[in-house]
Amino acid sequence: MNCCHHYQFIPGNEQVFSADVTRIRYGCGVLEELGQEARALGIRQAAVYTDSRVASLPLFGQALDALRREGIEAVVYDEVRVEPTDLSFKNAAAFARSSAFDGFISIGGGSVIDTAKAANLYSTFPGEFMDYVNAPIGKGQAVPGALRPHLACPTTAGTGSESTGIAVFDLLEMKSKTGISSRAMLPDRGIVDPRWTESLPATVMAATGFDAISHALEALTAKPFTSRPRPDAISGRPMPQGANPFSDILCREALRQAGQYLVRAVNDAADHEARYAMMYSATLAGVGFGNAGCHLPHAMSYPVSGRVQDFFPDGYPGDEPICPHGMSVIVNAPAAYRFTGAGCPDRHIEGAQLLGADTHDAPPAEAGAVLAQHIEQMMRATAVPNGIGGVGFTEDAVDGLAKAATVQQRLLLVAPVPVEETDLKTLYREALSYW
Ligand SMILES: [Fe+2]
Repeated sequence: MNCCHHYQFIPGNEQVFSADVTRIRYGCGVLEELGQEARALGIRQAAVYTDSRVASLPLFGQALDALRREGIEAVVYDEVRVEPTDLSFKNAAAFARSSAFDGFISIGGGSVIDTAKAANLYSTFPGEFMDYVNAPIGKGQAVPGALRPHLACPTTAGTGSESTGIAVFDLLEMKSKTGISSRAMLPDRGIVDPRWTESLPATVMAATGFDAISHALEALTAKPFTSRPRPDAISGRPMPQGANPFSDILCREALRQAGQYLVRAVNDAADHEARYAMMYSATLAGVGFGNAGCHLPHAMSYPVSGRVQDFFPDGYPGDEPICPHGMSVIVNAPAAYRFTGAGCPDRHIEGAQLLGADTHDAPPAEAGAVLAQHIEQMMRATAVPNGIGGVGFTEDAVDGLAKAATVQQRLLLVAPVPVEETDLKTLYREALSYW
């Protein structure tokens, strides 16, 4: 199922797609090479961003040793907030300004890597915080130039942040997530050591793994890049450029691996084969969606994680309610894919098939449902909450969530079908519970 017709040329429309890829080093033990990689980028004094959980792990000590063996001064900032906010980004940027750092190293999940990107940006090109935040929420201004080198070391198997130019955060006054997107924020190296996954709590493995799955599915089912008008200048080519032949390859393999290994990886921490495979799947999905874009499940997730009030999942800091990013994505995903299925039925069926569903004779009219049902099966097999009701939302919240999701235009515009506020109300209602 190759979907060749997906990229038909339309006169006046885009014919060019981009492949922006971080230089990735992947494999067990690659963390030992962190210092050599940093030195090769000219780093002598590094700001090292992490969170308190990761900072306590033996591998973190190994990473610092690897830096110091190469004579690099590593100054640790371990106060990164899980699910960062505009305030925590500003604090991280203040740390970056506190010394003459010539490079950034992030060791953690997506929250940590995104925080290091923001700290690099705001300490290099200070300005009003909202200047670089995606329009229409912020001003969406272009980053004026190159940032300092950034080596990203992901410790969870899901975010893909090491291979994207995106930093996502909760804008506190809006009670929703938004982001900053720029190719300038693409890390210079992704140092991906699958050994980190051995210590992940099951809930974290599930949330991050489903994030990776949805990255791949959303990129695969995004509007094709050929559906946009060709820009007059290269600066007019958006980073979320839509599905394209390059991202397709990555997303297909990411889904095949995740379909084979996610349930095993969540349910057995000792299953290193499965956990390592999920790290690879997440890396592929990260490059894939970084070169295509995400759409409806991510747009619906942001108000959910921004408004959660009484959910405290295992494996996360228990000091305040949290709906981890990947969890907020996947509790919305079945409703979202049932809706987007009509936009490109063959790709929804293909996604389900790659994840392991029996799609034999699946009719196109059922494409979204076939994919949604398979995701629901995987959610049940990994004890993920049953819809947004499972993380504490009720019918009363639906209108507010829908209104907040409509501002995520950067994401919604890449969806394969038009999405209006009335649709979002229906979708959140359907997402309250699935089984
Ligand atoms: Fe994500």
